[in-house]
Amino acid sequence: MSLLGFKAQNHPQQTLPNGPVDDIDDRATTPQHFEMFVERFGEFTVDVAAAAHNTKCHKYYDRETDGLRQPWADELVWCNPPYSAIEPWVRKAWAEYQNTRGIVMLLPANRTEQKWWQTQVEPHRDRPGSGLRVEFLPGRMRFIKAGRTDVGPNERPPFGCCLLIWTPNERTGA
Ligand SMILES: C[S@@+](CC[C@H](N)C(=O)[O-])C[C@H]1O[C@@H](n2cnc3c(N)ncnc32)[C@H](O)[C@@H]1O
Repeated sequence: MSLLGFKAQNHPQQTLPNGPVDDIDDRATTPQHFEMFVERFGEFTVDVAAAAHNTKCHKYYDRETDGLRQPWADELVWCNPPYSAIEPWVRKAWAEYQNTRGIVMLLPANRTEQKWWQTQVEPHRDRPGSGLRVEFLPGRMRFIKAGRTDVGPNERPPFGCCLLIWTPNERTGA
């Protein structure tokens, strides 16, 4: 299904037959959006899903070092994971968040019917005492393709985005 000339190429319905499209998984948050998130949440100390050309923090993990296998303890974590496989990142956030200074995860907001959202997010989000809250962002964020320094034409994805924000119990802020 195509909208405004942009195919949702890494939705599972697209990736199952051929596997994920690396180029799509590699799209970067714009510096402008990231600055807004820094202003709200503070200086992130690690980007756990990154590559050298798109990391948002000096400290980062990439495919080789594997952010899913690293400890996130004591970090203020920025995470914009590969959208072809979101569930392991959400599970990792649940496993780590109490030992972090907070985790902010940027996700597409059009996967709420999927099993991982229904089991890992929906029953827990925005409940009293829950470590997780979800914010649905306005408009359509744009992302930067690998190899480019800015958003290209027709680069508006056909989905809105949301932030999953984990805050450890005893702390406030993120
Ligand atoms: C959607 S991009 C986000 C890029 C950047 N961190 C940002 O927010 O602008 C996801 C990145 O995660 C990387 N990635 C994929 N698997 C990973 C893993 N297991 N550990 C760390 N990074 C991974 C991809 O190569 C890609 O660069």
